[in-house]
This record gives sequence, C-alpha cells and structure tokens, in this order.
Amino acid sequence: MRVTMIGAGYVGLVSGACFADFGHHVTCIDKDARRIAALKSGEIPIFEPGLADLVEANVRQGRLEFAVEASSVAAADAVFIAVGTPSRRGDGYADLSFVYDAVREIAPLLSGTAVVVTKSTVPVGTGDEIERILREKRPDADLPVVSNPEFLREGAAIRDFKHPDRIVVGTDDARARAVLAEIYRPLYLNAAPIIYVSRRTAELIKYAANAFLATKITFINEIADLCERIGADVQDVARGVGLDNRIGGKFLHAGPGFGGSCLPKDALALIKTAHDHGAPLRIVETVSAVNDQRKRAMARKVVAALDGSVRGKTIAVLGLAFKPNTDDTRDSPSIPLIMALQDLGAKVRAYDPAGMEQAKPSLPAVNYCSSAYAAAEGADALVIATEWEQFRALDLARLESAMARPVIVDLRNIYRADEMKRTNFRYFAVGRPGAE
Ligand code: UGA
Repeated sequence: MRVTMIGAGYVGLVSGACFADFGHHVTCIDKDARRIAALKSGEIPIFEPGLADLVEANVRQGRLEFAVEASSVAAADAVFIAVGTPSRRGDGYADLSFVYDAVREIAPLLSGTAVVVTKSTVPVGTGDEIERILREKRPDADLPVVSNPEFLREGAAIRDFKHPDRIVVGTDDARARAVLAEIYRPLYLNAAPIIYVSRRTAELIKYAANAFLATKITFINEIADLCERIGADVQDVARGVGLDNRIGGKFLHAGPGFGGSCLPKDALALIKTAHDHGAPLRIVETVSAVNDQRKRAMARKVVAALDGSVRGKTIAVLGLAFKPNTDDTRDSPSIPLIMALQDLGAKVRAYDPAGMEQAKPSLPAVNYCSSAYAAAEGADALVIATEWEQFRALDLARLESAMARPVIVDLRNIYRADEMKRTNFRYFAVGRPGAE
C-alpha cells in the first residue's frame, strides 16, 4: 500500500515508521522544512526509544521518505492526518485548525479513490466536517473519511504500535474498511483485535479510553491521600484491588498526578464536547480539577518533610519529564511542583536525563545540573518526581554525603520503606505512611 502521513510529529513519525516497517511505502509530510531536512539527514527530532533505528532502516530500504510538499498524496491509497490538536488557549476546546488546513491542502491533490484517515485525536464530529470539506472541494471524487485513533504511550510507542491491545477503525464505507484491513494486515496476523465501528464511535473511544485512564490514576491518588490519614499502604491496596480481573492492576500507581500531552488535554476536550451536547461528564470534570490541584499540592509534602518551611532551603528535584523515557515536559507534575516550591522561597536544583531543555522556558530560575548527584549537592531535600530507571538505584551513601540534610521525598514510590529505614535518610512517599 502507498501511505502518506500528514504531520511528522510524534504520532505521524512513529506510525509512519511502523507502517513502513510492515512493508508499505510511506511518505511523511511536514510543513516544517527544518524538521524535514533534519529527518532527511538522519536526525530524529523527538525522543523515543528505538525510533531512530527504525527510521534509519526503513529509509535505507527505500520504504520511508520525507517531504515538505504534499505531492505524494496523489499516488496514496491512504492519507493519514497526524497533525497536532492542541488545547485552544483559554477554553479547553481542541484546536482543529491544523487538521482542517491539512484537509484543504490535500483535497485537490487526492486521487479519486484515496481513503482519508484521521489519526490525530479529534473531537466527535470532526470526521463529518472533514467529509463536508472534501465533498465541497472534490465533488468529482468519492473520498471516504475514517477515524483510526492511536493508543501509543510515549516512551513505549513502537511496542504499542506493533503489539496493540486493539485497532479501532471507524467507518461505514466497505472500500475504506478493506484498505485499512490491508494496511494493518501484518498486525492482524499477530491476532491484534481490529474492531470496526462507526466513525463517531471511534472518535469517542479514543477520548473515553484516555478519560478512563485519567480517572483510574486520580482514583488511586485520592486513595493514597486517605491511606496517609488512616495508616494503610496504597501499593498494597492497589495490588489487592487490581488483582480483581474486572478492575486490572495497570494505571493504579499513585503519584504526583497525571501529565503529558494527552491525558490532561483530552480530558478537557471531552468535558467540553459533553457539555456542548447536554450530557455533562461530572466524573471527568472532577478528575481534571482534582489532578490540577494535586500537582501543586505536592509542594506541601516537601514542606512537611522539612518541618513546615522551605524558605531559603535548597531542594533537588530529580525528573522533569512527565514520565520516564521521554523528553516531554508538557503538563508535567514537576513544573507546578517546582513553581510552588519557588513561590514558597526555596531554591531548586534539578536534573532530568532528557527533559531539561524542554523545561527551561517554563522554569527559568532553576539550577540545572549534570546528574542526580550534582543536583543533590547542598540540598536540604531530594524529591523524586519522575521514575527514570537511573533514579531507582541511587548510591544513597554518595547522596547523603552530597546533601545538607538526608531527606528524600519519593513522589513515585520507587524505594522500599524498610530499606530506607536502615539508612540515615528520612524517607517520605505517597500513600505509604509507614515510610516515615
Ligand atoms: C496516554 C495513554 O496511555 C495512551 O494510550 C494514549 O495513546 C496517549 O495518552 C495519547 O492519547 O496519545 P501517554 O500520555 O504517553 O499515553 O502517557 P501515560 O503512560 O498514559 O502516562 C500519563 C501520565 O499518567 C503520566 O504523567 C504518568 O506518570 C501518569 N500515571 C500513569 C500515573 O501517575 N500512574 C499510573 O499508574 C499510570
């Protein structure tokens, strides 16, 4: 199959490289000429384990190309739209201008039999609008519009793409179905379930899935707060609850609140859609509000660990990315946490293996360090905000000698309280009152 991917950002690049790896011929288009030039010279503009090798191999074998001009659209069996849908400033609605601009641009170029597929996360009804634009611009052609949402996690995107829990294809058009079935055939052979639903249903599945994940995390985070009050351990509660197959153990890790470019933004967009259609989603509204408050409230844990004040004290923060294996700091819990600590008069030193450049514009007054140990130098407390592998087995003796006081606030629960008790550290965690 010949595939054109519009947008060489996170989703477009990962999906394009994986489709090429399945054996399809893929062209990734992006308006950003610098990005395309970088990709052509073998540079990968995003941090995703395994992606550089996958891109390199498929370019070398002639199945993956990059271009600024959308001319490859003319020969494409399927054109995927994978451009950004940021939250519109101020109102939380998804900004669809990039999507509609892309559709207007490709419309005159499409062959009369191409299938147009949205991979970007778009609110329910966007497919109908795309179809309307295509009919208006190309009354001569029959161009079905399909919703095919992605469920990739940053940091595990290639694995998620190649071993998906499911593939969702939203269309009522038989020809479009056949094209999508052919594109995903290599996965079908791996027995990945492919579900065919209506377009609006597919669009909603994407939002409902992310909202449910956000709800699960927020639920366990509130249970963690309760654990701290009543002397229970949230990790044991999560295990005891998650072993029930109806609930499942994943996404029950208590922490500083969910972040990233998807869960917070998608929850807001779904809330707006639901509101507009007179079917408000009270649970998701609460999840979003509770999560926003939680991120800043994490600073209070640090204050408590330092006996009520951080004024004039130095805090080392390990982890700025919203989760490990990414350089993405969008909506990362570390950002409001650090801002709150600074507002309370603390000096912050920070280290992240990948996310420091991304964090700098939002956090200019931080002292960025070259390692976890460098960040710990002279610190009154060390806060673990992201569970990077390299933070899981820190040399505690070395940390202790670097720090002004031996205090660790582990917002990701990656250390064991009983082991910490054998050290000089005062150790604070989330939802594990026994830790201190
Ligand atoms: C999320 C979904 O997991 C993907 O399925 C979806 O495709 C993607 O959004 C998207 O819409 O593009 P992602 O944002 O990459 O993926 O990250 P997650 O692994 O879902 O983590 C999101 C946040 O929740 C992180 O801040 C993470 O630390 C937090 N989290 C996750 C917890 O606090 N506890 C958990 O148990 C799990």
